[in-house]
Amino acid sequence: MNPEDQNQEKNKLHFEALYANYPISNILHWINNLDSFLDFATTTETSWFGLYQTNFREKIKGKKVLEMGCGDCTNAAVMAALGAEVYANDIASASGEIVRKLNENYNFKHPIIFVEGDFLENNLPSKSFDFVVGKAFLHHLTIPVEKLFLKETVRLLKPDGEARFFEPAVNSKILDEIRWHIPIGGRPSKFNKSAFAKWKESDPHPDRSFSSNHWEKAGKEFFKEVEIIPVGTLERFSRLFGWGKRRNKFKQWALKSEHLLPDFLNKPFTRSQLIVYRKSRDGVTL
Ligand SMILES: C[S@@+](CC[C@H](N)C(=O)[O-])C[C@H]1O[C@@H](n2cnc3c(N)ncnc32)[C@H](O)[C@@H]1O
Repeated sequence: MNPEDQNQEKNKLHFEALYANYPISNILHWINNLDSFLDFATTTETSWFGLYQTNFREKIKGKKVLEMGCGDCTNAAVMAALGAEVYANDIASASGEIVRKLNENYNFKHPIIFVEGDFLENNLPSKSFDFVVGKAFLHHLTIPVEKLFLKETVRLLKPDGEARFFEPAVNSKILDEIRWHIPIGGRPSKFNKSAFAKWKESDPHPDRSFSSNHWEKAGKEFFKEVEIIPVGTLERFSRLFGWGKRRNKFKQWALKSEHLLPDFLNKPFTRSQLIVYRKSRDGVTL
C-alpha cells in the first residue's frame, strides 16, 4: 500500500472506532441552547474561537457550507442549527450515522446532508458552496492528498466563496521537540523509545509540516488571498491552571488579548491557526 492509502486507512480505522455508537445527547443539548453554547465556546475554546472568528456565526446563516472531516458532527450540527445548508463528509461512515440521528432528533431548517465515502469522488456541482470548512482536519492528510482536497475546494467554491480551516500550528522546531519529550494523555515521551514507537503506530497523524508557512504556500498555489491568524500563543498557558472558572477566565482573557502580541512572538509560539483562503486563481478552477 502506498503511504497515502496507508494514512487514509489508519485514519478510517481510528475514527470509525472513536465515533461508533456515539451518543448525540451532548450535541442536542448544545444546539437546543445554541446561543449560550456559542457564547461560551467561541470565547473560551481555541477551535471554536478560531473557526468562528470574524463573525462566522452570522456570515453562514442561510449559506451553503461544506464541512470536510466532520468527525463527531458537533460543528456540522451547530452550523445547521444556525440556519446554514450543511453538507458534511468524513472518511468514517460512523459520522454518517451521527448525522442520521441528528436529523431525526432535531428540526433543522435544512437537514444535514452526509457525503458518504471518499470525498475526492464526490459528485457535488462546481461553484456551489459559499464556504468550505474544516476543523482539525487538513493535518490528518498527507501533503499530496491535501493538495487534491484544496483543488477540490477550488472547484466547489463559488467565485466569492471562502475556505477556512482551523489547524494546529508548529512554527518552532525547538518548541516542537520539547513538546514531543513531555508525556501527555496517552502519548508517551520520546525519551521512552519503545513506548513512543508503539504509540506512533496507531497515531492517525501523518508525519508532515504543520507550519503556517506550509499552509500559506499551499494556499497561494490555488488562491489569491491567503490569511493565517495565529490562535493560542497565550492560551496554551491555561494548562497551568486546574479545571474550572479560573482556567476559563484565563482562556477568555488570553484568546481576546493575544492578537496584540507582535508577529515575531505570535507566529513562532502559536499553538493553532485559522487558515483563510479566498479568490481562487484563474486557471486552477477546474
Ligand atoms: C481530529 S478529527 C476532527 C473532527 C472534527 N472536525 C472536530 O473538530 O472534532 C479529524 C477528522 O478527519 C477525518 N478524516 C481523516 N482523513 C480523512 C479523509 N481523507 N477524508 C475525510 N475525512 C478524513 C477523520 O475521520 C476525523 O473525523
